[in-house]
Amino acid sequence: MAVLVELKGVGKAYPRGTVEVAALRDVSLEIAAGESVAVMGPSGSGKSTLLGILGCLDRPTRGHYLLDGREVSSLDDAELSALRNRRIGFVFQSFHLIPQLTVEENVETPLLYGRVPEREWRSRVHACLEKVGLDHRSTHRPSELSGGEAQRAAIARALVTEPAVLLADEPTGNLDSATGEEVAEVLWGLQREGRTVVVVTHNESLAARAQRVVRLRDGRIA
Ligand SMILES: Nc1ncnc2c1ncn2[C@@H]1O[C@H](COP(=O)(O)OP(=O)(O)OP(=O)(O)O)[C@@H](O)[C@H]1O
Ligand SMILES: [Mg+2]
Repeated sequence: MAVLVELKGVGKAYPRGTVEVAALRDVSLEIAAGESVAVMGPSGSGKSTLLGILGCLDRPTRGHYLLDGREVSSLDDAELSALRNRRIGFVFQSFHLIPQLTVEENVETPLLYGRVPEREWRSRVHACLEKVGLDHRSTHRPSELSGGEAQRAAIARALVTEPAVLLADEPTGNLDSATGEEVAEVLWGLQREGRTVVVVTHNESLAARAQRVVRLRDGRIA
């Protein structure tokens, strides 16, 4: 399998007062295209920091990050956000849906900033809603959805640009276990369709269904 993501000696330090906090230290990691990976570790071990770097939301302070063999660390902000829009889908614990917009409008938002021609938007949006089993809720607003439905809407939104990699930070953290199971099924199902999926989770049974588990401790791969 082709290497999609490659981290080489990545460090991330945050300034805190006059000292620096190392959130990641010397992390080297390869993820192949089409692979599913769970990221686990105690609170504060650097999981969200790692995902933020993989998702081009943040930059490493040391080392190299190659996505599709391309060095990401050297891109400027505009290049980074263009890359993020084209190649990355992000799912958050608290869904981050826009409350004033309907489900289909929420799913459409990433297309406003991308290169997909407008005549394709509608079919893309509905194909993604169907994939997560939510087409019947397309005209509802987020406040009218259950937690599981809201997270499935967020997954549809993350998929609408057909990203190379889907990143999810504790996607079932706000859900009860049965609903979390449904959302996990959707996420790991995407891997079976060939998508690359990286999920941060505290849930061992959810993680056990990934092809690989990466464990962090104090900012290092354990
Ligand atoms: N923006 C920031 N500014 C300063 N320090 C930060 C920042 N973000 C994270 N940190 C610090 O970096 C370390 C790693 O944080 P991170 O959020 O990556 O942990 P995590 O593994 O996701 O934890 P959790 O399971 O609680 O979500 C922590 O010590 C945290 O306090
Ligand atoms: Mg976190």
